[in-house]
Amino acid sequence: MNRRYRKTVIAGNWKMNMTASETKKFAEEMKKIMPRVKWCETLICVPSCNIPAATKAFKDLRISVGAENVYFEGRGAYTGEISAEMLKDLGVKYVIVGHSERRQYFCETDAVVNKKVHAVLDAGMTPIICVGESLEQRETGITSEWIALQVKGALHGVAADKLRRCIIAYEPIWAIGTGKTATAEQAGEVCSNIRATIRSLYGARIARSVTIQYGGSMNPKNAAELLSQPDIDGGLIGGASLKPDQFLEIINAANQD
Ligand code: 13P
Repeated sequence: MNRRYRKTVIAGNWKMNMTASETKKFAEEMKKIMPRVKWCETLICVPSCNIPAATKAFKDLRISVGAENVYFEGRGAYTGEISAEMLKDLGVKYVIVGHSERRQYFCETDAVVNKKVHAVLDAGMTPIICVGESLEQRETGITSEWIALQVKGALHGVAADKLRRCIIAYEPIWAIGTGKTATAEQAGEVCSNIRATIRSLYGARIARSVTIQYGGSMNPKNAAELLSQPDIDGGLIGGASLKPDQFLEIINAANQD
C-alpha cells in the first residue's frame, strides 16, 4: 500500500451467493463488529437483484455497494442484461468488469471488457477491472506479457482523467477459490508490472495514483503480508467476504495506522 498517492480499497465479491434476506443478516452481524474505518474504502459487490437490499442494509455501515457485471449497451432489446445507467440509478459506485469467471464461462473477450469499462466510466462509476493469468500461462513464463495485454486491452481509448477513477484487480486464475494464494512477492511483482504498463501509457504521475488490488484466496491470515507490498493497494475478496468475521479481519489489516 502507499496511502500517500492512492486509495486503499477492500472490496468483497459475493459472486452468485447470498439472498436478499441473507444480505440483511450479514449486515446485522457486521454492524456488531465493524470498526471505524479510517484508512481504507470498503465495498461489497453483490448480485444485481440484491443491490437495493444491500444498499438499505449497509446504509449505516460505511460499506458501499457495487455490482458484479454490467452490459455495455445503453438500452434496448438485450433480454436479461443490465445497463450502467440502471446501476447508477440504484446508487452503485463500483462495477466489477472482466472477472475471469465471466471471461471463462460467458466468453467475455478483451474487446467486450473494454466496452464495459467505457460504459461504466461514462456513467460516472468506477470499474474494477480484473486481469489474471492461468496456471499454464504462469508456468510457460508469459505472465507479464499476458497481463500487460489485458491491461492495455481493457484501457484502450480511456482518457487520463477517467483512468484516475479505475481500479485494477490482479487475480491469478489459479488462486481463485482454490485456497492457493500467490505469495506476496509473486503478487507484488505482477502489480508492479501493471503499474509499469499504466506508466508507459499515461505517465508516472497518473500511474502512481491508480489503486491496484490483489484477489485470489485472500484471507485473514495472508492479507497483511499481501497488503505490505508497495504496489498492492487493497483486495478483491471472494469467499472470505461472505463471512463477517473474516471480512472484518481483512478490513482491519488494511486499516492500520
Ligand atoms: P476467492 O477470494 O474466493 O479466491 O475469490 C477471489 C475472487 O475471484 C474475487 O473476485
